[in-house]
Amino acid sequence: MSADTTARPGRFITLEGGEGAGKSTQARLLADRLRSLGHECVVTREPGGSPMAEALREVILSGVAAPLGPSAETVLFTAARIVHVVQTIMPALKRGAFVVCDRFTDSTRVYQGALGKVDPKLIDSMEEIAIRDCRPDLTLVLDLPAKTGLARAAARRANEAADRFEAEGLAYHEGLREGFLAIAKAEPERCRVIDAGLAPENVADAIWAAVQDRLGLIS
Ligand code: TMP
Repeated sequence: MSADTTARPGRFITLEGGEGAGKSTQARLLADRLRSLGHECVVTREPGGSPMAEALREVILSGVAAPLGPSAETVLFTAARIVHVVQTIMPALKRGAFVVCDRFTDSTRVYQGALGKVDPKLIDSMEEIAIRDCRPDLTLVLDLPAKTGLARAAARRANEAADRFEAEGLAYHEGLREGFLAIAKAEPERCRVIDAGLAPENVADAIWAAVQDRLGLIS
């Protein structure tokens, strides 16, 4: 179900997918395109996107909360999402801006739900608490073989250590890919799968075509 666009005239686009799929690059390229047409566009990310949520990002990705288990991590992601939605996403949508968000609720469903085996009822109620009617109008699932994504992510961070989730093994990352594809299949009216193995400019063109198709011609 899409959100009430009279209460929030802006459009909410999320990018999802495994590690190294190029989500942040594509979020930037999409925002450039929207801004070049004169639209206000807020680019943001999860976990993060507001000062308090960025502080929680540090805690979660450092791995200090990992021993508490995936349910506790879900609570932390949810806390970060509540503040992000209230302080950043909803104000932008209410003033009519585009919001392009690098990861959102589907990441919780896949990382903590499908892979972390957190009870789906807990995932659903946390999602409801955090987002209410702040649902994406369009979700772009950037799809890539896990091995390719991990190699890209390793090249990008150079000598820095992998974060809490990137450090998991190949089977885990293959599971993530399946999880995102399963969501896209179950919710075709919201999601569009994009081949992230193409050159960045071709991925950007495919994303732009999906945005035009799903949200109407933007000029
Ligand atoms: P990234 O933004 O650099 O991809 O890092 C965020 C990491 O956090 C990534 O490994 C996915 C993970 N994550 C979750 O496990 N659950 C979530 O709800 C979100 C938003 C991210």
